[in-house]
Amino acid sequence: LARIRRLHTGGTTVTLALPAPSLVAGFPFPFVEDRYRYSTNVEPAGQVVTTAAGQWGDSVVDIDDEYHRELAERAAVLDADSTRHAVLAHMRPAAWDAMLTIMRELATAYPDAFTLTAGHGEWHWRNGLLDVESTFVYGDDSTLPVEPLRYICGQIQEDVVLLDQRDGQLFADAGVVTFAADWSFGFDVGMSFLEIHGPVPRVRDEGVITRAHEFLKRLQPHEPYRRTNWTLTIGRRLDVSTERYPEWGPDREMIQHVDDDTFGRLVHLRVEVQHLIRLPDSGAVMFLIRTYMLPLETVATVESWRLRAAEVMDELPDDMADYKGIIKYKDRAADWLRRADAVPATTAAD
Ligand code: HEM
Repeated sequence: LARIRRLHTGGTTVTLALPAPSLVAGFPFPFVEDRYRYSTNVEPAGQVVTTAAGQWGDSVVDIDDEYHRELAERAAVLDADSTRHAVLAHMRPAAWDAMLTIMRELATAYPDAFTLTAGHGEWHWRNGLLDVESTFVYGDDSTLPVEPLRYICGQIQEDVVLLDQRDGQLFADAGVVTFAADWSFGFDVGMSFLEIHGPVPRVRDEGVITRAHEFLKRLQPHEPYRRTNWTLTIGRRLDVSTERYPEWGPDREMIQHVDDDTFGRLVHLRVEVQHLIRLPDSGAVMFLIRTYMLPLETVATVESWRLRAAEVMDELPDDMADYKGIIKYKDRAADWLRRADAVPATTAAD
């Protein structure tokens, strides 16, 4: 109960749980310098990154203390909106490939919680965290309770997009995406990688996306890569998709009128760790998006994060801030972070 806060933001009351200390320790703080620009920022996956508060990055699929809460949120989104899950007919083999690849990753990274065993033409899967088990025949949809991509996405915190490679291009032809940061999976499904990135400022002139495209087309199985992306969001809402803009969009106006205390608690640094994996059987590219959020008041408890995040927010060019949807409050975020050293760090027991 000590972890729950109720904040009054004018018209509405927002209930917020403070992030557990483990979420701070595992937070993938994204800024490597005081200035942020788009780049083809890919690196081999699996290397542990040490941060000022802990470490992250040792596994491709990451389970943390938000597991049950986030899975419940995903289930509710999928129940309410069927367009968050799509597998075009030619992607069915890729969906099986993705499911088995993710199960292998989970069983390797968390052997106490997950097991995957093969025998007699069947696979046996056990998820001890959810207490679910299934025995299935690879490629036979009738042996699982739901379509394979949806089945495994009900057991991981990552969003997943599967890209088909044909005619020298990549196409986002399948996925389960419930936590999109200001985009729409339902709109993008079937689009090419280059079309999807069409709205991103700068990247065309700078060649970032065409380089990423060439890189992805050459990706080899068993050599996963990763990158990070970031934005700011208001509250701990994971589903800030285009579809639900009427629910969360007005927060961008509201946040300009709250007091400083509320600002620091509501504005979150939102980081995506994205993994890029060539699936071994189907040849599709699997794109995993794992979202982490910390309120500014918690970011500010780590001195080097506070100072660096303030610099990045302050320096971020308007076109990038506008595209990220943070132009109206990123300067206040910078200012808030700079001044946060004058305020005693908040603790979970407050
Ligand atoms: C947005 C780069 C892979 C889907 C972006 C942005 C950049 C970027 C710079 C703008 C982000 C922001 O300002 O917050 C890259 C790079 C990649 C990569 C360098 C690989 C090396 C992918 C893949 C997908 C994808 C595989 C899968 C379909 C998206 C989407 C957006 C986005 C949906 C939001 C576009 C919108 O606003 O409509 N990407 N990306 N990206 N990316 Fe990627």
